Amino acid sequence: MKNDINTREDIILLVDSFYERVQLNDKIGPIFTQIAKVDWAHHLPKMYDFWESILFGKAIYKGNPMLTHFALNDKKPLQTAEFETWKNLFYQTVDDLFAGPNAETIKQKAQSIADLMHFKLNAPPSKIKIV
Ligand code: HEM
Repeated sequence: MKNDINTREDIILLVDSFYERVQLNDKIGPIFTQIAKVDWAHHLPKMYDFWESILFGKAIYKGNPMLTHFALNDKKPLQTAEFETWKNLFYQTVDDLFAGPNAETIKQKAQSIADLMHFKLNAPPSKIKIV
C-alpha cells in the first residue's frame, strides 16, 4: 500500500527521484546536463519549494519559471516531444512512489502548468500579457 504525498520529505523523495530519471532520459536529460548545465545542489531545493508551494499552498517558492524556460527555449526549443516526455516521467515517478488524492492533484497541477508553459513558449509575443 503506497502512501499519499503528505510532507516536505515526501516532496523531496518525489523531486529527487524525478530528476534522477530526467538525467537518465535520452530526450530531455541532455537539456538539463549539457545545455543548461544544471547545478543540482541549487536546482533541487528550489524544486522542493516550488512543489510545496503548489501542492500545500505554502508561498515559499520565489521565482519566475517562465523567464527560466523562455531563456532555455532560445537555446533549445521545448516542443511537444519534450513536454510529453517531461510529463510522462513526472506521472510515472508519482505513481511508482505514491497513491492518493494529493498524488492525483500534483499530476493534474503538473499537467496544467506544463500545458500552459508549452502554450506560452509557442504563443506569438504580441498575445502574451504576462510571463
Ligand atoms: C520540456 C520540459 C522542461 C524542461 C526541459 C525543463 C528544464 C528546466 C531547466 C534546464 C531548468 C533550469 C535549472 C537551472 O539552471 O537551475 C528548469 C527550471 C525550472 N523548471 Fe523546468 N523544464 C521543463 C518543464 C517544466 C515544467 C512543466 C515545470 C512545472 C510544472 C517546470 C518547473 C521548473 C521550475 C519551477 C524551475 C526553477 C525556475 C527558477 O526559479 O529558477 N519545468 N527547468
